[in-house]
Parts: sequence; structure tokens; C-alpha cells
Amino acid sequence: MKDKPALLKLASVSKAFGGVQALDDISFEFDAGLIMGLIGPNGAGKTTLFNVITGAYVPDSGAVSLDGIPIQGRRIQDIVHLGISRTFQNVELFESMSVIENIMVGRHVRTRSGFWSAITRVPAIRREEKALRERAQELLDFVGLADQADRRSGDLPFGWQRLLEIARALASDPKLLLLDEPAAGLNAVETGRLGELIGNIRDLGVTVMLVEHDMALTMSVCDQIIVLDQGCMLAEGLPREIQSNAAVMAAYLGNG
Ligand SMILES: Nc1ncnc2c1ncn2[C@@H]1O[C@H](COP(=O)(O)OP(=O)(O)OP(=O)(O)O)[C@@H](O)[C@H]1O
Ligand SMILES: [Mg+2]
Repeated sequence: MKDKPALLKLASVSKAFGGVQALDDISFEFDAGLIMGLIGPNGAGKTTLFNVITGAYVPDSGAVSLDGIPIQGRRIQDIVHLGISRTFQNVELFESMSVIENIMVGRHVRTRSGFWSAITRVPAIRREEKALRERAQELLDFVGLADQADRRSGDLPFGWQRLLEIARALASDPKLLLLDEPAAGLNAVETGRLGELIGNIRDLGVTVMLVEHDMALTMSVCDQIIVLDQGCMLAEGLPREIQSNAAVMAAYLGNG
């Protein structure tokens, strides 16, 4: 019998912007259930990799598959539906909408009526909206924003906006959650809580891929780490292996 396919597999993925080879022949795969770190100096290609995995960019060559299903070239919404969601390096919320509405938007991919019919408020879909609101509130409780449901999301402190974005990404019931620098702009206490939250997300059964420059956080929460440098795979291994890898240290020093 054939082995179960990897949760996420990249095979020789490349992507260039003009003369910049943002991703150069990237291959790796991992199974469900872990927190996979993705690190590397500025410009290494981390966000580009997330954009390729989520369908925001089509790779120039190579293949991406989720649970054995090829996803490169598919539409962003289709990839969300297959089970990948993300947060953004620069928080991207609907600022004028309430906190809970932001999460409900993230959930519509899983409802039958869909986003457009839902916002027209046809009576038949009111029941579905109630369930949607309850699920959104559960996610707010989960990320620690239980009391903030009706606040305008643009008015939340920055650290809470990051948590809201994570809750919204969880609303589509992802198998794989991509977090792009979730600790950027957070203070030490908030970063500590974020580390716990990421562990709790993994414990829910959601596999996490974490891009972070905060090395203390990365090394403490990640089960494995992939290192990119100038578009290339530099290393892959356990946190302690990455910490003592001479090529990784040289890449960070060279770019710092
Ligand atoms: N849309 C784009 N158009 C042109 N160049 C781009 C685009 N997106 C990324 N790049 C370039 O590709 C390279 C990789 O960028 P990317 O944003 O993926 O790096 P990163 O590892 O996320 O860096 P950082 O840690 O600073 O966020 C950089 O040289 C960047 O300037
Ligand atoms: Mg980036």
C-alpha cells in the first residue's frame, strides 16, 4: 500500500521577479501535526514562499501539493477551501468592520450560502449566520479576545489585531496555517502568549508553518526548521541543529 502523502510538499519550486530569483529550486515536505519554522535573513524569500503556497503567486516552475493534491496555479479561494489559510506580515484586517465580523468573513468559505448571499441577509440564511457568529465567538475566546467582539477592529491595539488575524485565519478550518511574522511589533509578554497560542493551535490538530525573526520564539515553539537564504534552501533540521549550523550563522551575519 502506498504511504500517506505529505501534508505539504514542494518540488523544485522557483519564482523570479525580473532579475531577482526570489525562490530558486525549493524542495521540501512535511507531515501533519507539527510546527514548522521557516526562517532566513530579510529578502530570503519567506513571504514569497507563502504567496506561492496560498496561490497569491503562481510559481515559474515546480509543484506544490497538499495531501497529495496539486495546488499550484489554483485560485486563492480554492486553496483556502482545500485547507490552507494564512496571516500577513503587515496585518490585513477589514478595519472598519467589527472584530467578530472580520472572523465571520473568514468563515464564509465553509458556509453553504457564501459571502455575498450572507451579506444580503436573506431570511433563509439567518440561521446559518447565527451558527457563524457562535463559531466566531468561540475563536475569539480561543485567541483571548472574548470581550472584544463588537469593537471596531481598526481600534484594537496592534498586538490584538495580530491575534484577530489569527482567529480569522482559523475560521476557515485550515489543515495548515501559515503565520508570517506574527510576533513583529509585539512586546515580550505578548510574544510569550503568542508562543502558547501557537502550541494550542497545533494541539487542535492544525499544522503550523511559522515565519519569524524572533529566534527565541522560533527555537522554543518549532518542531523543525527550514532555512532560506537568497531564494535557496540553506538548511533543514531540528531547532538545536539549526542553531549550531555554521552556514545559517554565516547567512545571518552576512546579511546583518
Ligand atoms: N511582488 C514582488 N515584486 C518584485 N520583487 C519582489 C516581490 N515580492 C518579493 N520580491 C523580492 O523577492 C525577494 C524575496 O522577498 P520576500 O518578501 O519573499 O522576502 P522575505 O524572506 O519575506 O523577507 P523579510 O524577512 O524582509 O520579510 C526580495 O528580493 C524581494 O524584493
Ligand atoms: Mg517577508
